[in-house]
Amino acid sequence: MKAIVQDRYGPPETLTLAELDTPVPAADEVLVRVEAAALNAYDWHAMRGDPRLARLTMGRSAPRARVRGRDFAGRVEAVGAGVRQVRPGDAVFGDLGEANGAFAEYVCVPETLVAAAPANLTAQQAAALPLAGVTALLGLRDVGQVEPGHRVLINGASGGVGTLAVQLAKALGATVTGVCSTRNVDLVRSLGADHVVDYTREDFARDARRHDVVLDLVGNRSLTALRRVLTPTGTLVLSGGGVYRGGSLVGPVWLIARGRLLAPFVRQRIATLAAAPGRQHLDTLRAHAEAGRLTPVIDRTYPLHEVPEAIRYLEGEHARAKVVISV
Ligand SMILES: NC(=O)c1ccc[n+]([C@@H]2O[C@H](COP(=O)([O-])OP(=O)(O)OC[C@H]3O[C@@H](n4cnc5c(N)ncnc54)[C@H](OP(=O)(O)O)[C@@H]3O)[C@@H](O)[C@H]2O)c1
Repeated sequence: MKAIVQDRYGPPETLTLAELDTPVPAADEVLVRVEAAALNAYDWHAMRGDPRLARLTMGRSAPRARVRGRDFAGRVEAVGAGVRQVRPGDAVFGDLGEANGAFAEYVCVPETLVAAAPANLTAQQAAALPLAGVTALLGLRDVGQVEPGHRVLINGASGGVGTLAVQLAKALGATVTGVCSTRNVDLVRSLGADHVVDYTREDFARDARRHDVVLDLVGNRSLTALRRVLTPTGTLVLSGGGVYRGGSLVGPVWLIARGRLLAPFVRQRIATLAAAPGRQHLDTLRAHAEAGRLTPVIDRTYPLHEVPEAIRYLEGEHARAKVVISV
């Protein structure tokens, strides 16, 4: 099978198209013929080994997982002897987590990490959902504890996570303010945002409105600025953020660490988000998609051999919504 592999950390040029043996599923795994994969900010972090601190878990000089990519959608080709809930021929989607491997024609994945793909979405749309959708879901519902009537501000509303977060926040009954640049104002409004702040013209931290939850997906503002637009008992959800600026030691971890240090001393909640893949969350995303409450927006689609080009575009910081790979 064809796959995008990497043997040392570095720029997109370190990614190459290789011919590998098609994997064989273990007893608890399913073999998926990948039809589409999606890019996430995680992919450029993993490709560059950035921030360097992350190499403690990802591998010292090269990523432990040789094939890049997490999000996929496709058809089940074969199942291991112990698999009970998935059958050959099923259309599925999922996030491979730290194991990676989605930028390939086939992937083996534990049964617990796949779910039936939303019936009303294409494979490209389904692949765009798992990591970004679970991040938005957990950030708003579980960490942010968003309730009907809450006011929610999303910094980075036009990105992969943000475009799904705007829709999920509306589905949870919130009044939503999205922050993005001029060219994305109409997009964010079309996703259901009640207010849109164009950060090239206005500073959202100076906004008079106060929010019950602020979901920060950019990591470009101070804790003071983010907390200024929260109610006295509101929740700030820090997800990470950061762009590639020639390499960093700790990257977005610094803002998160400062948030954790400050949290015990303030009335507002400062919480951090660590999205983990799993079937239960995928089932929730499918239910929202099939009910018409959640539709991924796809910015660009690239063929498998152009994954390096796709990641180059994504790490430029201004991709709009999701970038997808057709396999
Ligand atoms: N903690 C977790 O478990 C977890 C999981 C997934 C992702 N994340 C993190 O969440 C972040 C967002 O991920 P993503 O996939 O949405 O990234 P993304 O798609 O690469 O985000 C790109 C978006 O960022 C927006 N942006 C850039 N500068 C901005 C600014 N100054 N203010 C507001 N928006 C700005 C851009 O909008 P404009 O073009 O309009 O500027 C663009 O649409 C990443 O840093 C990622 O690492 C964390």
